[in-house]
Amino acid sequence: MVFRMRHLLAILILCLSTPLLFAADLSGIWASSVKRPDGHTDREVLILQQSGNQLTGKVERPWGNLVIQQGSVNGDQFTLTAKTEDGYTIGCDGTLEGDKLHVTVHEPNAKPYELVAARTRTDPFLIANVIPPPALHDLPPNGLAKTPPMGWNSWNLFAGRIDDKTVREMADALVSSGMRDAGYIYLNIDDTWEGDRDASGVIQTNNKFPDMKALADYVHSKGLKFGIYSSPGPYTCAGYEGSYAHEAQDAKTYAAWGVDYLKYDWCSASRLYPDSAMRAVYQKMGDALRATNRPIVYSLCQYGRDDVWTWGDKAGGNLWRTTGDINDTYKRMMEIVDTQSVIAKYAGPSHWNDPDMLEIGNGGMTTDEYRTHMSLWAIFAAPLLAGNDVRGMTEDTRSILLNKEVIAVDQDPMGVQGHRADKYGDIEYYARPLNNGDMALVVVNRADAPSSIELPWSEMRIADGTKVRDLWKHEDFAAKADQPFTIPPHGSLMFRFKSPH
Ligand code: GLA
Repeated sequence: MVFRMRHLLAILILCLSTPLLFAADLSGIWASSVKRPDGHTDREVLILQQSGNQLTGKVERPWGNLVIQQGSVNGDQFTLTAKTEDGYTIGCDGTLEGDKLHVTVHEPNAKPYELVAARTRTDPFLIANVIPPPALHDLPPNGLAKTPPMGWNSWNLFAGRIDDKTVREMADALVSSGMRDAGYIYLNIDDTWEGDRDASGVIQTNNKFPDMKALADYVHSKGLKFGIYSSPGPYTCAGYEGSYAHEAQDAKTYAAWGVDYLKYDWCSASRLYPDSAMRAVYQKMGDALRATNRPIVYSLCQYGRDDVWTWGDKAGGNLWRTTGDINDTYKRMMEIVDTQSVIAKYAGPSHWNDPDMLEIGNGGMTTDEYRTHMSLWAIFAAPLLAGNDVRGMTEDTRSILLNKEVIAVDQDPMGVQGHRADKYGDIEYYARPLNNGDMALVVVNRADAPSSIELPWSEMRIADGTKVRDLWKHEDFAAKADQPFTIPPHGSLMFRFKSPH
């Protein structure tokens, strides 16, 4: 009898405590939507499966999915971490309150933000009957971008805070600063200009851009060209409307606005297509742009996946990103540098490797590091898309972005991309042959301390007395055996001289 009573008591305690421990069943599809001031609705979805107090499933963003690595529920509270295929990891924690999930999202290097999600029956990001990519064919060259495109792009500095007024100010500043006359011709609006589509599917701008045609006219009136951004997926990387299923219609809209340059960013197309379909998907927009009969530079942005350098031009591309995103640090900039030399041979007039936009002037690197950034982008025949605030540049920034001798190396008409030719410890040599028989040479000091070196002219078969131009000092000197130079930490030297070859 005593045993039975105890037994019953134990069951009772277990029954009472179970709802406390496992009160919530979070299994299901949870969607949040937040309207931003620009009129755009931000969506995020959690697809959760709960088993006991363990959570599995995924967090869905417009641009792709993060798979839950670890998740647990405790009463009405939960916590999880989720990551993308590329290793980008976020954390979420929150509470079930009534029928709503209150979530705090922790991104790396950003302030946490809150969202409220409600249960839905279907996954709002699910696309049924994905349109098959077209059969492959080779697009003939469009004759644009004979030298690497130069200009300014809004993303590195403004990200989602770009609007009509800022673009106009940037257009004015590109002219008054001398940037336009130095070659920075394209003024490119990156992500977050997009609104919804009208009843016939025509893309609209959001309220940051009241009239895109008028804005393009203004940019053109300053002697500049006008660029815009989209994605082959249903959503851009920032979650705005993409061009999926509207490629021809969007190309026509861009042409009608007066667009001269399109950056086309893979983003959410990864939900629809494997990497092996990239060429066909990019070709679709390539064909659509050609069909407008407007000369539009076509910039592929798919982070260098699927060896894009082997097919980017066949899909109609004038340039293609070769890596994931740059950021304003020396470390990231040099990580990108280290992957560029082996693909040098794929670049040439009208079809360029794009190691991403410039960070010069954004404040995260030293002046010497920014000089290295500019010198190496020029050696690599990289597109020079400034990403700083040209309305107020320091003297240092101006002297880097407006160094005409370095720009001339970048824009050399022969269009041969340079590469790393040699390396001795922390000292690296990058060389690029130029059209007039000259050679451009960049010597980088990767050490965290100044390095004193003697330039090995004789190894390069440069005779004593050969005239060498210092492209940062803007002066000539005569080569001399064992000539000593001191290079600051992460800094570089850049020279130009008659090639002995
Ligand atoms: C991706 C691209 C960036 C930028 C953003 C915009 O990350 O690589 O250059 O265009 O999307 O959302």
